[in-house]
Amino acid sequence: MNQKAVVELRHVTKTVNRRNLVEDLNFQINAGEVFGFLGPNGAGKTTTIRMMVGLIGISQGDILINGCSISTDFNKAIQNVGAIVENPDLYKYMTGYQNLKHYARMVPGIGKKQINETAKMLGIGSWLKDPVRTYSLGMRQRLGLVQALLHRPSLLILDEPTNGLDPEGIHELRNELKYLAHERGVAVLVSSHLLSEMQMMCDKVGVIQHGKLITVQSIDDFVRDGGFSVSIVVDPSQTKMACRLISEMGKQIISADQSGKILAALDHSDIPEANRKLMESGIRVYSVQTQQETLEDRFLEVMEENQ
Ligand SMILES: Nc1ncnc2c1ncn2[C@@H]1O[C@H](COP(=O)(O)OP(=O)(O)OP(=O)(O)O)[C@@H](O)[C@H]1O
Ligand SMILES: [Mg+2]
Repeated sequence: MNQKAVVELRHVTKTVNRRNLVEDLNFQINAGEVFGFLGPNGAGKTTTIRMMVGLIGISQGDILINGCSISTDFNKAIQNVGAIVENPDLYKYMTGYQNLKHYARMVPGIGKKQINETAKMLGIGSWLKDPVRTYSLGMRQRLGLVQALLHRPSLLILDEPTNGLDPEGIHELRNELKYLAHERGVAVLVSSHLLSEMQMMCDKVGVIQHGKLITVQSIDDFVRDGGFSVSIVVDPSQTKMACRLISEMGKQIISADQSGKILAALDHSDIPEANRKLMESGIRVYSVQTQQETLEDRFLEVMEENQ
């Protein structure tokens, strides 16, 4: 592969009180790629991101950004990074524009023109003159994004950027991140629990669970590996029993809900047998349908496999 790694994690471990919060992480993000960092609550995403932006130290291993080590060459490495970790850092009593100007002063080479251009690109021109305390949560997120992009970083890191955005805001953010990666060659790392959104936005996914990286794959391969699943709708009162019968066939239940909808990892050839078993046990089956697994289905499946 001749792809250019903008960021590379090498055997990264974070240990606090003798416990490894994350352990031996190895992955890279290339220029022009949106990388989705997925994992359940407490998996270690924010911890990893904090190390990537130098908010906390690395216990073992190293992180290289455009070839510069975040541990030994921090100033050079961090120049290439724009980030929002959890919430954007903004001064509430200042206007949006003043916030951007204040930030620009700390980074050489950012003029008025660049501030206005970046703000315009993200469509927030009109309310830049209002104080940030009057902004909604979504407006603050957007201002934070402008701030993170002001110095034209080659790596953009966003920890849960969809927090507080309305559906239109999420849609726009998705397009902006894709534009930045695909048209401007930025490497983007984004973590979010909105998996349907991540499926539309990301080129690659890294899945972390209990501090360990389970897989790094192109999103297409990751979802395709799940293959097809079968959605079975039974009488809601019989859901449990139906799940048990399917499990007894050695097949995995991906999800089941109170409406009687069961999603199972069945092969096409298993369907007649499953159907027969259900019928013979007196389960009322309302529908059986095959469907391509979504990112969410695949994610849940992988989580369970690695429990
Ligand atoms: N400063 C700290 N000291 C000790 N443990 C910590 C510290 N910060 C985080 N942890 C622990 O590290 C683990 C990973 O937390 P982290 O915030 O990285 O998870 P996350 O993947 O970002 O989760 P979420 O999806 O909820 O944001 C958790 O078990 C958490 O309790
Ligand atoms: Mg987090």
